[in-house]
Amino acid sequence: MEICHRPIAAIILIFTLFANIILPSEARGQGLGNDLHVGFYSKTCPQVEDIVSDVVKRFQAQDPKLPPALLRLFFHDCFVKGCDASILLDATPSGQPVEKLSEANGKTLRGLEVIDEIKAELEKSCPRTVSCADIIAYAAREAVALAGLPRHDVPAGRRDSTTSRATDADVSLPTPTMPLQQIIGIFNQRNFSLEDIVVMSGAHSIGESQCNQVNRRIYTFAPNVPRDPALDPAYADELAQKCPAQVPPDQELNFKVNLDPVTPEVLDNQYYLNLQQKKGLFRSDQALATDPGTQEIVNQMAASNEAWTKRFIKNMIKMGRSQVLTRDEGEIRLNCREFNKEPDRIDNA
Ligand code: HEM
Repeated sequence: MEICHRPIAAIILIFTLFANIILPSEARGQGLGNDLHVGFYSKTCPQVEDIVSDVVKRFQAQDPKLPPALLRLFFHDCFVKGCDASILLDATPSGQPVEKLSEANGKTLRGLEVIDEIKAELEKSCPRTVSCADIIAYAAREAVALAGLPRHDVPAGRRDSTTSRATDADVSLPTPTMPLQQIIGIFNQRNFSLEDIVVMSGAHSIGESQCNQVNRRIYTFAPNVPRDPALDPAYADELAQKCPAQVPPDQELNFKVNLDPVTPEVLDNQYYLNLQQKKGLFRSDQALATDPGTQEIVNQMAASNEAWTKRFIKNMIKMGRSQVLTRDEGEIRLNCREFNKEPDRIDNA
């Protein structure tokens, strides 16, 4: 009997080795995110999630508008070459402009000092252990929970990149004036379906935008058509009261409007109800309610906050798996704004 079992045991052993060693290493860098798991730091830094939560809550007490900033930071990190904290780097050896300086990020990124504080505290408690990419993911989860959604588990184990290029952000991040088909293309390239796009856009149920992003819709839409006909007229009036036709240069950050005029601080399906009433702030939002491919999904999300919540959280986890670096790829940055300066660093950013 024993003899009979040996080949079977050998086959099982070979299969296990193949599955555990060969397959994951082949999968690396392909953005599958299969190496991430919940409780990744349970032995090496068990207090990590509490520290992130405490710091985010402390900062939010001073700035109630923090949650949308952290949620957007996560999205903008993950959509540009994956969730690798490349968005946090101030410089790379090549001297090329970094993602932070791109058009879509530029002056509008917020919450960076919160990530710095979390990292500083973690370096005291568990030195050289927690990646900046995981900190962004944990902080985004706290943001979503503070904005009213159930607090979900976050798979972790991401590592940090040593590269960051503004040009990558320019081609990877959607803008409000892009045709919907182009936005769909950006999401499809990252394996997000039409439903995922509609569901994730529900993030625009919290936060603000600079008036500059919407002024064309209110004042100079087309020759002889000052206002975008896709905007509800009363809503357009409301926006015009907050946004002057000419925002003084260098005053952009002083003129902002809520993305959701009804419940601006709560993550909920109000966004979809707004779209049904032509109260989507961006053309790219409003297009979801009229495009034949997405209209029905908007209606479904408008009909059930519960259905949207479930799908939104699922998509947060999916987004967090985008093109991640794991195991021996990348590094654990000591300071989230700088790649580690080691004598043997090889970096071709
Ligand atoms: C579908 C295409 C999208 C476009 C065109 C877009 C564009 C924008 C723009 C222009 C702003 C305003 C920035 C500013 O002026 O400060 C903004 C804000 C925001 N976006 Fe998006 N976005 C998109 C999708 C997403 C997704 C998928 C998420 C997250 C899952 C997200 C989360 C946010 C949040 C939370 C804010 C508010 C930020 C704040 O208050 O600081 N967006 N978005």
